[in-house]
Amino acid sequence: MNKDKKILYSGMQATATLQLGNYLGALKNWVNLCDEYECFFGIMDLHSLTVRQNPTEFRQNARKLYALYVAAGLDPEKNCIYYQSHVSGHAELGWILDCFTYMGELNRMTQFKDKSAKHADNINAGLYTYPVLMAADILLYQADVVPVGADQKQHLEITRDIASRFNNIYGDVFTIPEPYIGKTGARIMSLQDPEKKMSKSDENINGTILLLDDRDTVIRKFKKAVTDSDACVRYGEDKPGISNLMNIYSTISKKSIEEIEREFDGKGYGEFKLAVGECVADELDPLQKRYNELMADKTYINNCIKENDDKARYFATKTLRKVQKKVGLTELIR
Ligand code: TYM
Repeated sequence: MNKDKKILYSGMQATATLQLGNYLGALKNWVNLCDEYECFFGIMDLHSLTVRQNPTEFRQNARKLYALYVAAGLDPEKNCIYYQSHVSGHAELGWILDCFTYMGELNRMTQFKDKSAKHADNINAGLYTYPVLMAADILLYQADVVPVGADQKQHLEITRDIASRFNNIYGDVFTIPEPYIGKTGARIMSLQDPEKKMSKSDENINGTILLLDDRDTVIRKFKKAVTDSDACVRYGEDKPGISNLMNIYSTISKKSIEEIEREFDGKGYGEFKLAVGECVADELDPLQKRYNELMADKTYINNCIKENDDKARYFATKTLRKVQKKVGLTELIR
């Protein structure tokens, strides 16, 4: 642990394969930031339980997520990549923080409203207190910065509110974390309905680019992307489809929106869509190759999980013990 470095914390739910929004809104930023910070990245399997899972697929998905983190460029020997459920402190701190969170605050969470509408037959208490467990994840590691996509901003705000409330009562226990939301890529929209966020659970598979989609599939999905009839590559609120494609292209190629407008001046949508598709496929190609190698080598990932679980547990326990003491829980007698 490098004490001079600030702490970065983030994670993703362990459900199904990742989509391009997860990558551009979060994972790619993690890779860019990881040398600058001491990093913890969780496989958020407890959060995934808020939706009914098939146990076998769920376990496989968690493993695939681990391999995807590494394949994208996170070195598990330098970054602590671990399973949330392997560190019991998350659930323990989650309970304590539940007692410092108001129902009025949770009622305002838009993700809870969206998810309850989507899973009307299973509006469970875990879905409701989901943001508190997320606050516990972040606060356990005393994170300074949390890189996420724009949809997680509200969860970061409630985390800061809970931490400040706790600190006001008990002194400086928690670091107040700052969200890190990239300028481009923070809100990638569906290719089929650019008013809707790209999501792995979208029923229309053509709207979502999965990180493990092969080259032809990626290019085909981009060719089919919904645009408008104006045939001019220009960024604007009145052109959500084209603006979304420009955002994707800009985030990967690092070209500014103005540069992209100039590059495709006088060219049709067909040419532009193909360029975006090829650029995404080129970006995903090395990630997919590395992913396949990692999935074939069970021992390497198993060793990484074991070591990093221990490291995560060590840090989490330090904060948890401090919190337990502050609130007056009786210490263990050894
Ligand atoms: P999850 O698993 O839904 O998404 C993982 C990350 O991907 C980002 N993201 C997107 N970014 C841009 N465009 C999109 N279309 C898009 N879709 C998803 C999300 O913003 C997120 O950063 N609650 C979290 C998981 C979590 C967590 C944490 C994150 C649990 N504990 C502690 C940070 C810190 C979630 O559901 O992410």
